[in-house]
Amino acid sequence: MNNSYALITGASSGIGLEIAKNFAEKGYNLILTARRRDLLEEVAKNISSKNDVNVDIISKDLSLKESTQEIFEFCEAKDYSVDILVNNAGYGIKTAFDKTSVEEEEKFIRVLGTSVIMLTKLFIPKMIENGGGKIMIVSSVAAFAAPSAIQPLYGPIKTFMNRFSDSINVNYKHKGITSTALCPGFTITGFHTASGVQDEMDRVPRFLVFSAKRIADEAVDATLSGKSLCVPTFTYKTLVFTLKYLPRWVINALGKLLAPGRYDKQ
Ligand SMILES: NC(=O)c1ccc[n+]([C@@H]2O[C@H](COP(=O)([O-])OP(=O)(O)OC[C@H]3O[C@@H](n4cnc5c(N)ncnc54)[C@H](OP(=O)(O)O)[C@@H]3O)[C@@H](O)[C@H]2O)c1
Repeated sequence: MNNSYALITGASSGIGLEIAKNFAEKGYNLILTARRRDLLEEVAKNISSKNDVNVDIISKDLSLKESTQEIFEFCEAKDYSVDILVNNAGYGIKTAFDKTSVEEEEKFIRVLGTSVIMLTKLFIPKMIENGGGKIMIVSSVAAFAAPSAIQPLYGPIKTFMNRFSDSINVNYKHKGITSTALCPGFTITGFHTASGVQDEMDRVPRFLVFSAKRIADEAVDATLSGKSLCVPTFTYKTLVFTLKYLPRWVINALGKLLAPGRYDKQ
């Protein structure tokens, strides 16, 4: 039996769900993880009925320190070889930085940052042993943009994740392992409701908003071909290129114009 698997975090909805569907269509077995077990079961049933692949699920909360080790042990116990690791789970905190508790910020850093590092750390030795592997780290265009007036830590953590992804490439590319930092712009998912910023999302012009499937399709192709950075859609490729060269005041003005509510206070 083929024991090669793609492990996807945050696979119960949005971009992670579409990435899972795409890999299944390409014939990859899947291990899906997120907190909502009922949704994971539904997704697994749906994907298995349409594709000739194995789909297993493990419900875990990545804000808990032990979860990454438990996911790793689950895969070991079932003799799954994780050849593709997609670190996708994420959300935003809308509350002002001075109003959140330390615990809230710690959980946030764990889900978006530490768990990504830990899962990569746990699965990379086997990838080295097997002569290769593919890692995708779902970051954001926010990694390049001016820090948002809402969700103050979100952009900085995504920038950190981009640098971490670069670091994996520098250290492990010669061992056949590549890491792709996926940087989507505004995408229609459960993210904005879950993060309390649906109103701000609704004010973003439609030409800047894309479907999760559109993002996932480009992301999976980029990951399989070992690209280090994937900014899906021509619109955002152009925007990110522009952000690299424009002075900060122009970037801030653009932010206020294109994403009202997020940059208004700057
Ligand atoms: N939507 C956008 O505009 C956008 C733009 C750029 C980047 N991104 C990034 O894309 C990634 C996916 O987000 P999405 O837009 O697809 O949002 P989404 O539909 O809300 O999906 C987020 C996923 O993360 C999981 N998750 C959240 N907290 C978790 C926790 N504590 N433990 C385990 N899993 C957790 C959720 O599952 P459960 O709730 O079942 O746990 C869900 O499957 C995130 O990293 C986000 O930062 C999104």
